[in-house]
Amino acid sequence: MKYTNVLYVLLPLIFASTTVAKDCIQGLNYCGSVLVDVDNAYINQTRQHLYDIRDPNYANISQKLFYCVGETGGIIQFIKDCSASGQTCRNGGSRQSDFCA
Ligand SMILES: *[C@@H]1O[C@H](CO)[C@@H](O)[C@H](O)[C@H]1NC(C)=O
Ligand SMILES: *[C@@H]1O[C@H](CO)[C@@H](O)[C@H](O)[C@H]1NC(C)=O
Repeated sequence: MKYTNVLYVLLPLIFASTTVAKDCIQGLNYCGSVLVDVDNAYINQTRQHLYDIRDPNYANISQKLFYCVGETGGIIQFIKDCSASGQTCRNGGSRQSDFCA
């Protein structure tokens, strides 16, 4: 195999193994579960945030609505817990805010 062919085989593997952290889109609201779909790192980032604001149920993020502040690292801020009013956190779709309903 020529050297150039080796590169074509190896390059996709190198990129596949590199996880690039994705951030939320600034100004949109997100359900916790949707944030985790954006990037797994949001599991811990949302929990840490909820813990900091003294939410005793901080581990349970799926029904919680967050605002994407943006900035470096895709900072998020808690808005409200949809389940507290008997609602469900709904995915608003691509590039749309999520909401409680
Ligand atoms: C979240 O934190 C735990 C404990 O430190 C760690 O094991 C896990 O890999 C983290 N998850 C992500 C997606 O970063
Ligand atoms: C998380 O919240 C959901 C919906 O409110 C609830 O059904 C579930 O039991 C909770 N899980 C934990 C671990 O608290």
